[in-house]
Amino acid sequence: MRELTNFSMKKLFIVGNWKSNKTTTEALTWFENIKEHKSEIESFNEKTIIVCVAFTLLPVLSEYIKKNNLPIHLCAQDISPFEKGPYTGEVNGEQIKEFAEYALIGHSERRDNFLENNDLLAKKVVQAKKYNLIPIICVQGEKTPVPIDAEIIAYEPPGAISTVSKGIPDNPDDVKKVVDSIKKKYPQKIVIYGGSVNAENVTLFTSQVNIQGVLPGAASLDPQIFFNIIKNA
Ligand code: PGA
Repeated sequence: MRELTNFSMKKLFIVGNWKSNKTTTEALTWFENIKEHKSEIESFNEKTIIVCVAFTLLPVLSEYIKKNNLPIHLCAQDISPFEKGPYTGEVNGEQIKEFAEYALIGHSERRDNFLENNDLLAKKVVQAKKYNLIPIICVQGEKTPVPIDAEIIAYEPPGAISTVSKGIPDNPDDVKKVVDSIKKKYPQKIVIYGGSVNAENVTLFTSQVNIQGVLPGAASLDPQIFFNIIKNA
């Protein structure tokens, strides 16, 4: 029998963004649930599963992942632009690196609510890189600057964020135009899409040649829905 090998299978990043949600008990329950799909997730060789969680959850979840040998990676939702030192309230790269492998930087909720600007975000990317965290930079359009060290670009049109209960992501054709032009500018970087992604609409995005993953927010809070996104992507 002829063996079929799909050499063109692209690598996909499925990045759940829990935002400011979940206590440690709730987070562990979510992980207990997703653990039931461990072997299936392991069989998706080409999919990298990442969850962006609050700082408070990083230690307990990293321990849980290690103990259960789960194929899930942790991402911090922010990172200090500074080294350790007198910066009250900040969590720095060296601290994050103890528990996570990725850092989400420049989400539009941080740009809007905390007035984070591109200069500040560039410093955060430098800190992530310095501590071997893979920076995922969120951009709101093709004109948003992308710091040189950012490895993954998450294109999230602000109007498409948090509409997931209605399931209205951006129009896939419009997303394609923007993603293609981002990819043209940064051919070496990975581009993913975020904004009301769910298990039903995920393939509208992951089927596009230049889109290498998705960043679901609200839909990642439920482990079964998140698993369905992983499966369908
Ligand atoms: P949403 O969030 O899927 O709830 O729209 C995506 C995001 O903001 O990262």
